[in-house]
Amino acid sequence: MASTIVGLDFGRGVIRAAEVLGSGGNKPTLVRYHQIAVPTSAIDRGEVLEREVVVAALKQLWSQAGFKTRKVIVGVGNARVLVRELSVPRAPLDRIRESLPFQVQDILPVPVNEALLDFYPIAEADEEGRPVIQGLLVAAIKDSVLAAVEAVEAAKLVPVDVDLIPFALSRALLVGPAAQGSVALVHIGAATTMVTIAVDGIPQFVRIIQNGSDDINRALVERLGMDEYQAEQVKRRFGLATQGAGPELRPAFEVIYESTGDLVVAIRNTLSFYVSNRPGAVIERILLSGGGAELNGFPTALADATRIPVRAPGPLERLSVARTVDPNQMAAGVAGVTVAAGLTLGSKA
Ligand SMILES: Nc1ncnc2c1ncn2[C@@H]1O[C@H](COP(=O)(O)OP(=O)(O)OP(=O)(O)O)[C@@H](O)[C@H]1O
Ligand SMILES: [Mg+2]
Repeated sequence: MASTIVGLDFGRGVIRAAEVLGSGGNKPTLVRYHQIAVPTSAIDRGEVLEREVVVAALKQLWSQAGFKTRKVIVGVGNARVLVRELSVPRAPLDRIRESLPFQVQDILPVPVNEALLDFYPIAEADEEGRPVIQGLLVAAIKDSVLAAVEAVEAAKLVPVDVDLIPFALSRALLVGPAAQGSVALVHIGAATTMVTIAVDGIPQFVRIIQNGSDDINRALVERLGMDEYQAEQVKRRFGLATQGAGPELRPAFEVIYESTGDLVVAIRNTLSFYVSNRPGAVIERILLSGGGAELNGFPTALADATRIPVRAPGPLERLSVARTVDPNQMAAGVAGVTVAAGLTLGSKA
């Protein structure tokens, strides 16, 4: 049987893993998907904070899920990863990569030797008469990536690659007609929101915003004295749709409206920033993903605020699903498949 590979997504309080067959081809198949809960102190904003806890959870995940490979691709994307548009003098890609430390010192918030740098070329162009390559610079804090990779290795797994979650999303969601034109992928997690703008399927712009769906919970807890559980319940049950709720919930709705509004404004500002810096640029549609996108009424609120059509595609549009996939695991968190499986897509197992 052909070999498979597992995409690993460190979420808030959860590790998600998707085993994919034929990840490098046109018909990738999800063969297993499994999640395991970890204390929220162990992983926050995609960062491994308590290594031993995460190692034990990974071992348990492998024994429970019955994955047929130990090869994994680790997803990164948090406050400690920076993605910026960068033009560099035209040169072979390996030379560009070597020269990055000298080119990017000024734009990094940390010393160059504390960062891992990479460059993704997008297009060739002439800027002020000189030939350049326009692309995306990805700079990640070394310690943060190493913490994840070391935990994976300590669990006796083989990290074959580390990839940016926004790139995984674009591979998972931008296929066929969905990829055409200028599309914004908006992925709302617990602590962060990732905005990726792609033209004809190729990411041109990525921003990781420090707002997420848990901001709503925090506001409910801080302002109304709810406990964490109540806050999550009210948020999920009602969201922005208030039908069927008694007047006693009015204060909660006000808080939910207000914090959702802040999130919507942060997303809208990011989209406006992209458009205003590129003469003639437009965003034709928004594709939503991530747990936070499931808030009742959110797609409409975002469409109203941005005046851009919004769609929330299912996570499985690109994948076939094998009978080996555990339906209980899918029922428990199908939205998480997009990132975990997307990480594997395009890679040869
Ligand atoms: N049905 C729902 N309605 C409203 N919010 C929801 C719903 N389901 C999940 N969420 C919220 O989505 C968030 C989790 O999203 P997701 O699973 O994408 O994040 P994560 O990957 O665990 O975290 P992060 O990427 O920020 O590290 C939580 O804030 C959760 O409350
Ligand atoms: Mg996430």
